Amino acid sequence: MKILIVGGGGREHTIAWSLKKNPEVKKLFAVPGNAGMEKIAKCFPDIKATDFDKILLFVKANKVDLTIVAPDDPLAGGLVDLLNENGFRAFGPVKEAAQIESSKAFAKAFMQKYDIPTAKYEVFDDYVEAVKYALSCKQPLVVKADGLAVGKGVIVCKNTRESKEALDLLMLEKKFGSSGDKVVIEEFLEGQEITVLAFTDGKTIIPMVSSQDHKRVFDGDEGSNTGGMGAFSPSAVYTQAVAKEFSDKIMKKTLEGLNKEGIIFKGVLYFGLMLTADGLKVIEYNARFGDPETQVILPRLKTDLLDIFNACIDGTLKNIKIEWEKDACVCVILASGGYPGEYQKGLPIKITKPDDGILFFHAGTANDAGRLVTSGGRVIGVTACGKNVKEAREKVYANVGKIKFDNVHYRTDIGIKKN
Ligand code: AMP
Ligand code: GLY
Repeated sequence: MKILIVGGGGREHTIAWSLKKNPEVKKLFAVPGNAGMEKIAKCFPDIKATDFDKILLFVKANKVDLTIVAPDDPLAGGLVDLLNENGFRAFGPVKEAAQIESSKAFAKAFMQKYDIPTAKYEVFDDYVEAVKYALSCKQPLVVKADGLAVGKGVIVCKNTRESKEALDLLMLEKKFGSSGDKVVIEEFLEGQEITVLAFTDGKTIIPMVSSQDHKRVFDGDEGSNTGGMGAFSPSAVYTQAVAKEFSDKIMKKTLEGLNKEGIIFKGVLYFGLMLTADGLKVIEYNARFGDPETQVILPRLKTDLLDIFNACIDGTLKNIKIEWEKDACVCVILASGGYPGEYQKGLPIKITKPDDGILFFHAGTANDAGRLVTSGGRVIGVTACGKNVKEAREKVYANVGKIKFDNVHYRTDIGIKKN
């Protein structure tokens, strides 16, 4: 069986590693992939995840049996639709379903309509009205670009000055282009953030094990928001009672709502949750696996990932029992110094052999004529499993020093959350 993975981050490396456990997976391709994925997949660094025409030609020419579309941009742009229309099998939601991530205004209206708990909000396409409203609200406040903005379109504002600056940035300066034509202004939620991913075939939805991401760049949750500096699974605050609340008040209602809208979502639905004093609320939906969450979730999966992907596509998920290891997993991201702002690329990376069981999932790495070099903000994730988060954490931090490049930055408190 020939499989193509679209994307080139730590998430895609983890998916490739997980699929490769199935002996039927004879050939893996990745576009663009990364230097770490090259060990298990043939990578094509010149084909971007959004080069739809090239990807379609590639799938035809190489007789690819299944394409996994992992990142947000190609899902939002309709790559799964294009492949399906041309008779090819693909894993991931179609464009209409991916809207749940690609338009925050759509997601908020959807939650309101189906009574799914979320932060109170208003949507604006007029700058003057938006500023007037923001200044009248209780602060802190959260200002969000409606569209995709490479994970940076959400600004948490401490006071009215910052709220106005955020609106200036998104609506006047158009920092994220047309993504800021419309903005969502919403109430700031306090609590612990939990990620729950779920597999769905549009009729059945099965949650995966819980995880927590560390979004801020520095220890103690200081500094800018990033794509995620590390993650751990399971979440200690995701108790059985919280899981039930999630299932009854959020997950099932989301699937029912999608069905009522006539939307068939097949793939992975990402629930970004906040456990507030007032109950569990949805911060955001994503239409895909999270990164770095995937790096701590898939290593715990006992069931074959390819079987699950096929069941999601074929609408037979109800026949599958998904099983997980009891272990906990922790992932620490080694990033380029300066990320999520400016950073240098092309720095040589030296890796020494890690302890047994340690996983290195690559993201921003490239092969420069045989030399391993940095090529992105998040460079490599170091993952370890253990009998609990504490043990997994100790194993990870005993191994982060085995990867060396200039200006490396990582958080030293991954796996520890203040209550
Ligand atoms: P999003 O892209 O919507 O997940 O937002 C990115 C991050 O901003 C989230 O993971 C939260 O840390 C933070 N955030 C978003 N919305 C809120 C909110 N209403 N209250 C508090 N923090 C938020
Ligand atoms: N880690 C957050 C995300 O994948 O969107």
